Amino acid sequence: MARTSSLDQGSTPSLFSPYKMGRFNLSHRVVLAPCTRCRAINGIPQAALAEYYSQRATQGGFLITEGTMIDPTSAGFPHVPGIFTKEQVEAWKKVVDAVHAKGAIIFCQLWHVGRASHQVYQPGGSAPISSTDKPISKRWRILMPDGSHGIYPKPRAVGVDDIANVVEYYRIAAINAIEAGFDGVEIHGAHGYLIDQFLKDGINNRKDEYGGSLANRCKFIMQVVQAVATAIGADRLGVRISPAIDHLDAMDSSPLSLGLAVVERLNKLQVDIRTKLAYLHVTQPRYVAYGQTESGKQGSEEEEARLMLTLRNTYQGTFICSGGYTRQLGIEAIAQGDADLVSYGRLFIANPDLVLRFKLDAPLNKYNRKTFYTQDPVVGYTDYPFLNKERGSNRPFSRL
Ligand SMILES: Cc1cc2nc3c(=O)[nH]c(=O)nc-3n(C[C@H](O)[C@H](O)[C@H](O)COP(=O)(O)O)c2cc1C
Repeated sequence: MARTSSLDQGSTPSLFSPYKMGRFNLSHRVVLAPCTRCRAINGIPQAALAEYYSQRATQGGFLITEGTMIDPTSAGFPHVPGIFTKEQVEAWKKVVDAVHAKGAIIFCQLWHVGRASHQVYQPGGSAPISSTDKPISKRWRILMPDGSHGIYPKPRAVGVDDIANVVEYYRIAAINAIEAGFDGVEIHGAHGYLIDQFLKDGINNRKDEYGGSLANRCKFIMQVVQAVATAIGADRLGVRISPAIDHLDAMDSSPLSLGLAVVERLNKLQVDIRTKLAYLHVTQPRYVAYGQTESGKQGSEEEEARLMLTLRNTYQGTFICSGGYTRQLGIEAIAQGDADLVSYGRLFIANPDLVLRFKLDAPLNKYNRKTFYTQDPVVGYTDYPFLNKERGSNRPFSRL
């Protein structure tokens, strides 16, 4: 029998039924997952970003931006946007306005890649920061500004005093995001980037108060969450984690214990401050059901499903799942109560009108992996065709 969360509006929820995500009234459950697209030349959101996000916006839909730099040391990809300078904030305003004009809600994903960077992306060519001084293994390659692939360098383990500065970068970036008009922010605590580098015991080898026990490894993420919640309000804040994903060597000896440790702390924070976060967003590695996801896999599919369900049942608030969901899997996830919302990455990249196509059960465009991270403002970015000949429209066919 379908299980419904206390936040659900109707009896049996569907992928296309409304959902109240705290202060936000969503008209359906199909979310744009954060996807790095490398079109923000020199860190500045361009007109192409406004076009891209507004193409994917629907009345009452929910979009999460690509990972966005919180300070000059955060980048590990070419031409990712930032949200730490006045110029960036002003540029984002045009993107947000274009999305709001379509009636959608948009959060900015706050991102620090930590050791998943290279000296070429760092101010003064210095070493990237991390929880550790261990580099990412040669199993992985970094995308360089010229399109070639390089080796991840040895990072610098950030000192305890510096950690407070990084927390402050998140706080200021969140305030900037609200200034730019975003409805909220998502803290990127997933996929082997800086926060995950603190969370995972396969990476974090610190001997101080930020390493070792689960409590210590959760300290950094909770400081960031607390600081951002205080600055902009917990109900404008979502958190993304991926305890079972080994992308960029982010392995943990007990993904379930780690996931639960984060969830229990988020639950406690919500009680303490008497406000729910906007949501928890968890990435599920799924290979068998729908080809390969972008992320690595750890454990069997059954284990992963159990982990997702345990986190979903433990977290007291809106739960977004992501990773390898098709239309059918999304419909099932919502109907069974496995999640409140489903985020789609690759399918949304290739189908600007994904929500309409899902509603009609129409054929989907195929994504082109080769243009995921290129810089052309149109090709592989805003030129994926709409179902409707009237380009840019998310309206159904007139015959329907
Ligand atoms: C090109 C590309 C870029 C991505 N960039 C980000 C990112 O910036 N932040 C993030 O949290 N996840 C990122 N992801 C992961 C997606 O949010 C999503 O979880 C993943 O693609 C799995 O979902 P899917 O099977 O629907 O594509 C990216 C994925 C792709 C394909």
